[in-house]
Amino acid sequence: MKYIIDGRTMKAADAYTIGTIGIPSLVLMERAALKVVEAAERERLNLSKSLIVCGSGNNGGDGFAVGRLLLEKGYGVTVVLVGNPDHCTEETKTQIQIFKAVGGTVRREIPEESYTAVFDAVFGIGLSRPVEGRYAGILEQMNRLDAAKIAVDIPSGIDAGNGEILGTAFRADLTVTFAYQKAGMVLYPGAFCAGKVCVEDIGIYLRGGVEGTRYLTYERKDVGRLCPQRKDDAHKGTYGKVLMITGSQGMAGAAILSAKAAYRMGSGLVRILTPESNREVLQATLPEAVITPYGEDLENQLEELLNWADVICAGCGLGTDIQAGMIIEHLLVYLGTHRKYCVMDADGLNLISGMEEERRNTYLKAAGSSLIFTPHIREFARLLGKTTEETKKNRIGLAQEYAKTYNIILTAKDARTVVAGEGRIPYLNTSGNGAMAKAGSGDVLAGMITGCLALGMDRFDAAALGVFIHGLCGDEAREKLGAHSVLAGDLIEMASAVLQEI
Ligand code: ACO
Repeated sequence: MKYIIDGRTMKAADAYTIGTIGIPSLVLMERAALKVVEAAERERLNLSKSLIVCGSGNNGGDGFAVGRLLLEKGYGVTVVLVGNPDHCTEETKTQIQIFKAVGGTVRREIPEESYTAVFDAVFGIGLSRPVEGRYAGILEQMNRLDAAKIAVDIPSGIDAGNGEILGTAFRADLTVTFAYQKAGMVLYPGAFCAGKVCVEDIGIYLRGGVEGTRYLTYERKDVGRLCPQRKDDAHKGTYGKVLMITGSQGMAGAAILSAKAAYRMGSGLVRILTPESNREVLQATLPEAVITPYGEDLENQLEELLNWADVICAGCGLGTDIQAGMIIEHLLVYLGTHRKYCVMDADGLNLISGMEEERRNTYLKAAGSSLIFTPHIREFARLLGKTTEETKKNRIGLAQEYAKTYNIILTAKDARTVVAGEGRIPYLNTSGNGAMAKAGSGDVLAGMITGCLALGMDRFDAAALGVFIHGLCGDEAREKLGAHSVLAGDLIEMASAVLQEI
């Protein structure tokens, strides 16, 4: 389990480490520079002709220290100060003096030569406005160089909080960042500019850094710790009676994928309520599932099944016709008075978006504490009544707000899915890849989260772990099948390998 933080939190942690703990800023700079050189050497980059481009802030100070260390190691070094010398911070001025004292020369322009490596120390987490004019030209010149590209702390031009490119950005192959990963190098498009990210410990204390934003993220080794052990004396009821309200005519696949994913995650018994037309194909494809076709008195049938279930998953391929609408409405009313966890996906969310506002609010306020919503960006925009663009811009903030309003767990799906709710530090997912961008991938996720709930996990943890494992399955699948050929069903097949960690 790790934290991902924004620039404000890092600044506060930096200030706390220096001001309250008492570690001098120059010590931190020295440690930062040592780690940058160490990482570049560990990655076997050719440093024989290195260019280090420094700004006038403290990121530039780190750059001068890197230049000195490389010089001392005998590498060819060109160090350029692109900021105004009069605006240099005290620490950076000291680093320039030390660099000169060991025989270094400070240039003011990048010499038009070839280099084997270029280090970007122009702006760090202190970037406060778009990169324009001379600075934009410099970053573009650095990007054009045919050399290994290393960013010190964060690529210049990336907003450390949200990954936005502020004007122009350095495109690194390797980013050596300090203490914690910054959200800006995890979220896209910033992540594209960061390349491989190494997080290095330089002795920063986070305790003082509580004024900004923090996210939680999982690492592979967390799977074993978070997922409950399976008891040897278990029976099929031990790991949850799962009701899937999924599929419609022509959409049997969504029902199969979500149910199978729940089973693979460890659910004991999965029952699918679906139209009669899906019965045959479901029975043939997933004989382990109990198939219950829609009956004459669907409302009573639904009530009985909801009473039977421990955990519910609704909406995958459900359709949006009148019958589906009645099912979702009945389900919300039921959850308003019975606390059973329910994953709501796809058409379930679309039907909720389409409800008259007052009715929707009443249902969600009553049922919220049972619900986990799993919208992708368009579904989320529909729920909010906003455009996709507006939603994209502030996806994480909106997810937190929505979760708080209804006491829902909101899983905002994206290349970097976020889980928000229950006043917890939001979870920001770092597993997974572009190979998973295929139809059915969301159905598998809904099934995996449902499976985690059936194992007895609480709502937030189930959503976060489900998302993480889903991504790990995607990483395994890409490794085995290549970036283009992964199908949603393949993700389910990878679950057993990922769950071996337990
Ligand atoms: N165009 C032109 N100039 C800009 C732009 C822009 N778009 N954006 C910012 N600037 C300038 C501003 O002058 C800004 O300074 P200001 O905020 O005082 O006006 C300056 O660039 C910011 O420079 P940075 O080097 O990005 O920020 P900072 O000086 O805060 O340093 C830091 C960042 C702390 C070095 C960080 O990247 C880090 O954690 N490094 C490793 C740890 C370390 O070395 N810690 C000790 C540092 S010493 C100390 O904090 C006192």
